[in-house]
Amino acid sequence: MKVHPSPAASRHPLPASRGEGRHRRVGLLPACGEKVALSGAKGRMRGLIFTLLLLLVACGREQKQQARLSTGGDPDRGKVAIEKYGCTACHSIPGVPGPKGAVGPPLDHMASRQYIAGKFANNPETMIRWLQDPPAMDKETAMPAMGVTEADSRDMTAFLYTLK
Ligand code: HEC
Repeated sequence: MKVHPSPAASRHPLPASRGEGRHRRVGLLPACGEKVALSGAKGRMRGLIFTLLLLLVACGREQKQQARLSTGGDPDRGKVAIEKYGCTACHSIPGVPGPKGAVGPPLDHMASRQYIAGKFANNPETMIRWLQDPPAMDKETAMPAMGVTEADSRDMTAFLYTLK
């Protein structure tokens, strides 16, 4: 996973660079003065947590961006749509509140799976078709057609592809 340095990261001193010139930095970066003045393990721990948070935010953004590019959908809208269509009645889906039903398989790591329903190559176009009308692709399947529009399906696919 590649993490691009964000402008925010360079504005704040990272823990490694904090040791030398601590006092000078207070003058150089008044906005960060309070944090830099923290000494010892507590200060370093805060710095570490802050850095990890920045990394997490950067990772989340990158995953969403990748999902957008590969599907043409919007993962944030997709998450809302999944909740609205009530998919959690049958699936447990990370990040989507609801009953976490067990009729269908959990949809965690959907982006990393090779197959949809164990049969169809997992790629954006096939997923978009599947969500709109599973029985049209496999008449034995227990997943019903739920009147999902193509646009909603594309957004939901974008969201599912953020689940690595
Ligand atoms: C009535 C229960 C039910 C509902 C509601 C339902 N599903 Fe499913 N879903 C299933 C079942 C059962 C399977 C397994 C299908 C199979 O293997 O033939 C499945 C399979 C899937 C798969 C493939 C999972 C895998 O591991 O390959 C995805 C993705 C999926 N559903 C997404 C959704 C989404 C998104 C919604 C909401 C629009 C939804 N489902 C609504 C029952 C449901």
